[in-house]
Formats: sequence, C-alpha cells, structure tokens
Amino acid sequence: MNKNSAPDKDFSEVCDLSNSKNKIVVSRGNPFAKLMIIGEAPGAKEEELGEPFVGRSGKLLDKLLQNAEIDINQDVYFCNVVKCRPPQNRRPTKTEIQENLPWLYQQIKLVNPEIILLVGATALEAIFKNKSPISILRGKWINWDGRLVMPIFHPAYLLRNQSKDEGTPMSLTKSDFLKVKEKIDTLK
Ligand code: URA
Repeated sequence: MNKNSAPDKDFSEVCDLSNSKNKIVVSRGNPFAKLMIIGEAPGAKEEELGEPFVGRSGKLLDKLLQNAEIDINQDVYFCNVVKCRPPQNRRPTKTEIQENLPWLYQQIKLVNPEIILLVGATALEAIFKNKSPISILRGKWINWDGRLVMPIFHPAYLLRNQSKDEGTPMSLTKSDFLKVKEKIDTLK
C-alpha cells in the first residue's frame, strides 16, 4: 500500500466492521492542531457520541493533557487507527487494521501534525509494524517521515494501574505529557 495515495474505494466496501448498524467515528478536536493523538478503535461511548476518546479512557487522556497544560480544544486532534467499534470491544484484527490504514494515512496527510502520539500497542504496531513492547518505546521520540512520534501507554491500561508512585505507568505517562508540552511550545 502506498501511504500517500487516496483510498480508491468507499469505506463501507473495505472495512468489515463498517455496516449499517456501526457508526464511523472519525475525529475530535482541531484539524489544524500540531499534535495528533492516535488510539486503537472506538468503544461504546465513542460509537454513541460519534467522537473518539469520549469514554472513561478519553476522560483520563483529557485530564493528563490538561495537567500538562495542553489545550485539548486548540492543540490536539484525536483519532483512531480503526474507525468502527469492534464487537465486544475486542482488539482489531490485522486485516481490519490494514483495511483502515489508508484512511488514517489520509488523516495524517490532511491534518499534517508535527507531533503524533501513538496510544497503546495497537497504534504503535499499526504505524511501525514492529513488535517492540510499548514499555520499551514509550516516552521516546521517533522520527517518522519528518514527524516526531511518541508511543505512550493506553489510558485503559492506566485505569487498571492507578498508583501514582514514582516509576509507575501513571507517573511515567505524566512525564511523557510534560515532554510533549515542551515540544509543542518549541513549535509555537
Ligand atoms: N476510545 C477511543 O476512541 N480509542 C481508544 O483507543 C480507546 C478508547
């Protein structure tokens, strides 16, 4: 797949998750933002409201961004690798990810963010096709086609590991967001 070419089929013809009952969830936030946040796939709340990251995970993500003084309305564009909710919120399959990637690439091209956060292992694997654990790559800047990309822990994982002690996923993620804020400020 050439990641610069526009998808040549209708979305519903390509992704098996897209059917008359399943709402397509595209984005939330500022389409001119310098920071794009890419998650896995919509959950029940996202499907109901038609926007990514508006359930429990999204609320935590918003809080982490706001704690780092990142403006969630101005500075951020939220989206997912997969645009429709997988049944029972299971992880999207490799095929579903492949089917959705042309649309994600188009979003990246159109929004043209300087910084991308890959939220969780699915987003990391979708973009980099490698199996390096997120625990190794999180918080590290990776240069990808001239954009700065950082993998971070998924907020659903943080909700299951809520200790704020030093070295815990929550405290590491807070420091990741401070790094992101610093980077955004250098771009202003
Ligand atoms: N909500 C989303 O929109 N994406 C995720 O990855 C998780 C929750």
